[in-house]
Amino acid sequence: MTKRALITGITGQDGSYLAEFLLDQGYEIFGMVRRSSTVTFERIAHLQDRISTVFADLLDQASLIELLREYRPDEVYNLAAQSFVPTSFSQPVLTGEVTGLGVTRLLDAVRLVDPTIRIYQASSSEMFGKVVEVPQTERTPFYPRSPYGVAKLYGHWITINYRESYNLHATSGILFNHESPRRGLEFVTRKISHGVARIKLGRDSELRLGNLEAQRDWGFAGDYVKAMWLMLQQDQPDDYVVATGETHSVREFCEIAFDHVGLDWERHVVVDDKFFRPAEVDLLIGDPTHAKQALGWTAETSFDELVRMMVDADLDLLQGRLSGLS
Ligand code: NAP
Ligand code: GDD
Repeated sequence: MTKRALITGITGQDGSYLAEFLLDQGYEIFGMVRRSSTVTFERIAHLQDRISTVFADLLDQASLIELLREYRPDEVYNLAAQSFVPTSFSQPVLTGEVTGLGVTRLLDAVRLVDPTIRIYQASSSEMFGKVVEVPQTERTPFYPRSPYGVAKLYGHWITINYRESYNLHATSGILFNHESPRRGLEFVTRKISHGVARIKLGRDSELRLGNLEAQRDWGFAGDYVKAMWLMLQQDQPDDYVVATGETHSVREFCEIAFDHVGLDWERHVVVDDKFFRPAEVDLLIGDPTHAKQALGWTAETSFDELVRMMVDADLDLLQGRLSGLS
């Protein structure tokens, strides 16, 4: 029997990679999209004839219930969120509604329509915030540092609560930063790779960034979506840290990215106070031992490969050689 998956946030970075992965596994895919005056299907345009897009919104409970009733998925992947940390400081209430309460709306829809549906919640290393332990595991206490992190923490605990209260197969994947050529341009890795490509092609001379000392455990999004799927194939729901186990600074990302095209980053990067945050997450590094032991998952793409892949893709994109979907 063909399995059916509903992906919320299918128009986002992870949604597009997960859809590709699940199609390869033989799934029928329903991608939840919200109504917009312009189409935001750039990342899934190449999949349009192989998936169904269906309309609903994490802000609207009834739309979620109707969706589940009509399409009856076996698995739901909740990737939709207001996911940009600086926006969560300027729009904290919206972030709480979508990224936090939106999880409850979806879990409750599953509970009401069919509690045998398996559900994946996209939790985040941002919940560790001002870290109290290095490296971070599934048992590390949380200390979020942004309205986004606080909203994700609510989503994480409500997922566990619905698992324990209603016996749902509800799993929380605590994913550390993962990037790709499909990353939004506002996130630091893509801002750097795109900036480097523009400077290399003579379209810009400087790249303005914030805190260069922040350290992240950066992996490749294409590797991480496999972990999401593996989690829902387990007999029992659980929580999993998904990470590379390495950390690198924004400064290192710049060094490798500029060096890859023969440029000296120090001649082009300008530190601008505008990009600093009210509260910063200084250091993230995950311990993916549980995911390795229980799921057999490990990150396959190295940090250097990731940086170079992103710079090369942006050079190609800016020179009109591809659509940004490599
Ligand atoms: P992304 O590119 O920002 O995509 C977010 C998706 O959510 C988009 O498809 C967006 O739709 C959708 N969305 C936003 N508000 C919605 C609403 N009210 N109703 C329905 N859909 C809505 O995020 P991503 O990088 O793919 O990340 C996927 C998930 O993993 C997110 O929940 C994120 O917080 C979480 N996460 C990401 C990382 C990471 O490093 N990438 C790490 C840990 C956790 P539009 O296209 O219409 O805006
Ligand atoms: N965006 C951005 N822009 N970040 C900058 C800049 C800049 O110009 N300069 C320095 N940074 C620093 C930020 O201060 C932060 O410490 C780090 O780069 C990473 O920022 P982002 O790429 O915006 O990602 P994030 O870590 O805040 O959040 C991402 O990862 C989370 C998982 O830990 C997002 O994808 C979240 O949705 C995700 O949950």
